[in-house]
Amino acid sequence: MAEVLITENIVGSPMTALGSAFDVAFEPALWQYPDRLAQRIPEAKALIVRNQTQVTAELIRLGGRLQIIARAGAGLDNIDVEAATAAGVVLSNTPMQNAISVAELTVGLMLALARKIPAADRHVKDGGWDRNAFTGTELYDKTLGVLGFGRIGFLTARRAAAFGMNLTACDPLVDPDALTVAELRPKMVNLEQLLARADFLTCHLPSTETTQGLLDYDCFCRMKPTAFFVNVARGDVVEESGLLRALEEGKIAGAALDVRQHEPPQSNALDTMANVILIPHIAAFTDEAQHRVVAAVCRDVEAVLRGGQARHFVNFPAPRNRLREPTG
Ligand code: MLT
Repeated sequence: MAEVLITENIVGSPMTALGSAFDVAFEPALWQYPDRLAQRIPEAKALIVRNQTQVTAELIRLGGRLQIIARAGAGLDNIDVEAATAAGVVLSNTPMQNAISVAELTVGLMLALARKIPAADRHVKDGGWDRNAFTGTELYDKTLGVLGFGRIGFLTARRAAAFGMNLTACDPLVDPDALTVAELRPKMVNLEQLLARADFLTCHLPSTETTQGLLDYDCFCRMKPTAFFVNVARGDVVEESGLLRALEEGKIAGAALDVRQHEPPQSNALDTMANVILIPHIAAFTDEAQHRVVAAVCRDVEAVLRGGQARHFVNFPAPRNRLREPTG
């Protein structure tokens, strides 16, 4: 009987060590089969997931022995946090561990858009050598608009500052006296102003009831026609049909999407646009970030299963875990 159930592809040496301390079931495809997952969950004391396993209130209810749900990553949009808390299950995640990788990719995508790198690469591999077709723009002295000035927004802005970009940010939840604001001194503006000013708009918002569908056609119409849009956060913050229409009508100059409204996405017109870069939700996928993520997840699972405290907890469940053990 597995004490630790892993329902997505989460591997690495810390996981091997966890396997020698506990009975671990590694089922990387289980997230695709909710019925089979529902059958397996009653045996588990720990559930380890990425973003594809739907950890619903019903699944948590079925997991009568669950003590911890560990999210290998930052976003919690696939987990019913309230249900976990109400059920006395600790929820932990790893937002610090992959933030640098996400910020680096964001800057990479900005450069790729500005210098048309993917299109130029395709052109040469197709036998071309037309240098004039690939004149780009610099990041220097352009305005970066950071939508969501949390950890990743801050790390992105810090890197953009090194390119000589002018920093603007919008985040009503950020304390104007926060250290991150004090260090970089971005111009804090509202969404309307951010859209109007940004030469590069980068989205770092989580998916919540408030943010879902926030960036629609009207928003993109309020941007500069020369502006580029980058999304490495959550796809459903963007109304993808609105973005597509804005691109087709030349309301903005281009976009790079690591995340999509529906994942995996259906093929659509974005697939063939030369000024659009599409990648498969890989911002956190570096050796370094994944090692940190897996190590942190394993530490938290081990701590909780040994009766201790998770370091990266995100909820405050009542200490009733052991009461959930079947009594019969
Ligand atoms: C995250 O939320 O940490 C990233 O989007 C990566 C992931 O979902 O696994």
